[in-house]
Amino acid sequence: MITIIGAGKVGTSAAAFMMIKELDDILLIDIIENKPQGEALDLSHAASILGLSVSITGSNDFKDMAGSDIVVVTAGFPRKPGMTREELLTKNAGIIADIAEKIKEYAPNAIVLLTTNPLDAVTYVMYKKLGFPRERVIGFSGVLDAGRLAYYASKKLGVSPASITPIVLGMHGQAMFPVPRLSTVMGAPLTTLLSEEELKEITEETVKAGATVTKLRGYSSNYGPGSGLAVMVEAIKKDQHKAFIASVYLQGEYGYNDLVLEVPIILGGKGFEKIIELPLTEEEKKGLDESAQAVKNLIEKLPPEYK
Ligand code: 2OP
Repeated sequence: MITIIGAGKVGTSAAAFMMIKELDDILLIDIIENKPQGEALDLSHAASILGLSVSITGSNDFKDMAGSDIVVVTAGFPRKPGMTREELLTKNAGIIADIAEKIKEYAPNAIVLLTTNPLDAVTYVMYKKLGFPRERVIGFSGVLDAGRLAYYASKKLGVSPASITPIVLGMHGQAMFPVPRLSTVMGAPLTTLLSEEELKEITEETVKAGATVTKLRGYSSNYGPGSGLAVMVEAIKKDQHKAFIASVYLQGEYGYNDLVLEVPIILGGKGFEKIIELPLTEEEKKGLDESAQAVKNLIEKLPPEYK
């Protein structure tokens, strides 16, 4: 069973994409009375119409996640227009610490994915509070950032995003670090396919993509996160050993310790199996260092009980 904690826009979009892929039965948990049940009922009607063989249920009781092999945490305050992800830190760290206790109690063997912002710092809190092996605690948003880079590059190149391997490292935040030299079409780096001006444009669009969605429609993204979560859950469920960018706890990789950052990983049935260390130029490493410092600054602001 897949448990999704938080039946808001991201949680229910994730449920819809996972349902369409028939990955497993889905449980939506939320503290708001009747909300997860109502969402599950609407999704169940959709499953019936689409002829899908999955059960989708809703609950207000964390106990019901017992036996889940995957827990997706989307709970927390979302960004409002004009707000940075970082402003959500203290509020959401507390929510995540509470949820970690529930997961430890009811689904101690689960692989945990998170979308709550500020993503990297919150993933750090989840990792510390759960005490699970790091392979089973994965912050989601690299897939979103990389998917956005592929989208903006595809617009410029006239090439399908599916044929682009996008590389975005570092923080899921203002200090995000897209790496066009390592992002390729069949091995050809974007730096050889696009002009300086075009590269600047697509990397800037990528960094501010979440804020652009939020500004345009008044609330933050959900289809991007929902679809990204579904492909990651698919990789776990089907033990695909597939490469993704994700936020994980680093123990020396890229020269960082005791830090969560977006890096390329290989994802399979037991969680992430490998962190890929890309060869960075001196200048790229400096860019990544700045991004890492931004996450470190956030982690330093966390109250001691969350570390
Ligand atoms: C995004 O990037 C809000 O972090 C979310 O869309």
